[in-house]
Amino acid sequence: MNTIYLDNGATSFPKPPAVAQAMLQYMTEVGASINRGVYGSAQAAGMTTLLLREGLCRLFHHSDPTHCVLTPGNTAGLNMVLRGFLKSGDHCLVSSMEHNAVMRPLTDLTAQGVTFDRIPCDRTGHLDPADIPALIRPNTRLVVMAHGSNVSGAVQDAMAVGAICHERGIPFVLDAAQTAGHWPIDFEAMHLSALSVPGHKGLMGPSGIGALLLSADFAKALTPIITGGTGSASDSEVQPAYMPDKFESGTPNLPGIYGFQAAVDFILETGVEAMEERERQLTGYFLDGLRDIKGIRLAGPEGLENRVGVISVDFADVDNAEASYRLEQDYGILTRCGLHCAPSAHKTLGTFPQGTVRFSVGHYTTEAEIDAAVKAIAEIAQG
Ligand SMILES: Cc1ncc(COP(=O)(O)O)c(C=O)c1O
Repeated sequence: MNTIYLDNGATSFPKPPAVAQAMLQYMTEVGASINRGVYGSAQAAGMTTLLLREGLCRLFHHSDPTHCVLTPGNTAGLNMVLRGFLKSGDHCLVSSMEHNAVMRPLTDLTAQGVTFDRIPCDRTGHLDPADIPALIRPNTRLVVMAHGSNVSGAVQDAMAVGAICHERGIPFVLDAAQTAGHWPIDFEAMHLSALSVPGHKGLMGPSGIGALLLSADFAKALTPIITGGTGSASDSEVQPAYMPDKFESGTPNLPGIYGFQAAVDFILETGVEAMEERERQLTGYFLDGLRDIKGIRLAGPEGLENRVGVISVDFADVDNAEASYRLEQDYGILTRCGLHCAPSAHKTLGTFPQGTVRFSVGHYTTEAEIDAAVKAIAEIAQG
């Protein structure tokens, strides 16, 4: 039985062939670190790293590659922001749809006197930016928001939220785990202070690497949570204050950098708008297929407006974990079930504690695969 991969919200698969080729090339032909040696292969690795920063800046409309920090992943990037910025007495606003990559560090920080409130979202997972001003307090120092929900696929109006934060001088941080590579993101127009992305989801690179794009002011205000060797200013035992070294200590993930750079190149060549359009068609096709199936509830927007291709289904008469298991065993369809590291999102959607079965399309998903998934869902739901 062939498998059908519908878990792109967890990690995209397959990757563009150039990604593995670039990683192999690094491992077999380059092998050098950056910012340390001055020999030819080290310079080549440095150039690939710069090309990656430049590519990410082009993709997200950011003007300064030195402020594109390479991270060990999206969770690390979000921890760098939350733990490096919030201090005792500070208040933070988050949406009620956040992933634990935000909620767990924030909950840890409450032990140090940080407080937070959740911006309410409706039963599809969307917030209303008009609710935000009333939630802002004199000590609100940060607004952090998942751009796209990894549970319902709802995409928030980052432009409107950014304008509200900008007007009040509050830094705005976007967790673009589910939108980077799926949805146009404009760092400047959205008035972002920080944008955190994983390499391995919609950007179609390897896991274990991500990026944190920072505004100049926010980078100055942020304290690094990890310090160490940078290959620069080696006469000093004090962490450099300049970018990106301030936030990039230790030998980086170079196979990851090579793979990520090839992936970003692929996205820039294909065009994020074209990718969004294709995924929108696939998502619409999937949602149309689900519409008449009895015995399931869609936990998320029914239409195509302001959503990505993350489709959560709650089976009425079958345990969701069993449904997901049967999808794999009987049909070869790979999904994710449960709470998807986002209990607050499920409380918002009314699917806590049972969770959902999540189907997430990607760049390589086909209509035939969606046909197979819709047929399988109908058979399982009808017992
Ligand atoms: C909305 C959201 N935020 C954060 C994360 C964490 O990303 P990672 O596991 O790549 O660090 C995820 C991953 O699923 C996510 O969907």
